[in-house]
Amino acid sequence: MFTDLMDEDGQAVQSNQFLVVDHGVGAIIDPGGNIAFNELFMALTRWFPAQNLSYVVASHADPDIIASLDRWMTSTRAKLVISRIWERFAPHFTKAGKTEDRVIGVPDAGGKLPLGKSELWLLPAHFMHAEGNFHFYDPVSKILFTGDLGVSMMTGEEARTPVKDLRPHVARMEGFHRRYMVSNKILRLWTQMARGLDVKMLVPQHGAPIVGKQAIAEFYDWIENLRCGVDLFDERNYQVPTARIDPQSNRVTAALRVA
Ligand SMILES: [Fe+2]
Ligand SMILES: [Fe+2]
Repeated sequence: MFTDLMDEDGQAVQSNQFLVVDHGVGAIIDPGGNIAFNELFMALTRWFPAQNLSYVVASHADPDIIASLDRWMTSTRAKLVISRIWERFAPHFTKAGKTEDRVIGVPDAGGKLPLGKSELWLLPAHFMHAEGNFHFYDPVSKILFTGDLGVSMMTGEEARTPVKDLRPHVARMEGFHRRYMVSNKILRLWTQMARGLDVKMLVPQHGAPIVGKQAIAEFYDWIENLRCGVDLFDERNYQVPTARIDPQSNRVTAALRVA
């Protein structure tokens, strides 16, 4: 896990990138945008010859997940593994022809991807938050990589310390999950599936890993009871706006005064 490969000037959200290697075969998970590429590529080579990567695995198609795709397609011979519904959108991140015969489009039901002598499980996590979204389970380390689920807002330095007690951590997750997760129905369906796995560590793309049976169980309890996304939106959120945006100050000024 790489937690702090980007300048922390507050412009871009802190992100984690992951390398999984089994018997000489390597996959990078959610390698991120262009800000992270150079440093990540160099940091990787301490553990694995980056040019030999077999897979670039993307949980979904957001810029912080895969905007560096062109660089990875150029610097390695890896195949991109991504939801089938993003398969034809991802090539927009690259120069023409770079992804030809190099995209593995994953169907909605997911699957088990061979990795060395083991495999990486691609678990359905649609609408958490992207419409085509996967989480990744490593049956050897028993780590569940949860992309934008379980994320917390903090610095790369802080993200290195795993969370063992969920209660004080909830405040750092709550706002994000209420707005970025799509609905409580999805969270409940996911939790049902996740409880069937033996998970030692739950590792999000932003912020700190959640470690240990106790904290993971508490996370499941919290998330399956969370109202979010469309649960919280009603007609008040869909009104023709009256506020004005000042492009200079980037401030929004309140409604029109009626004469
Ligand atoms: Fe995302
Ligand atoms: Fe993200």
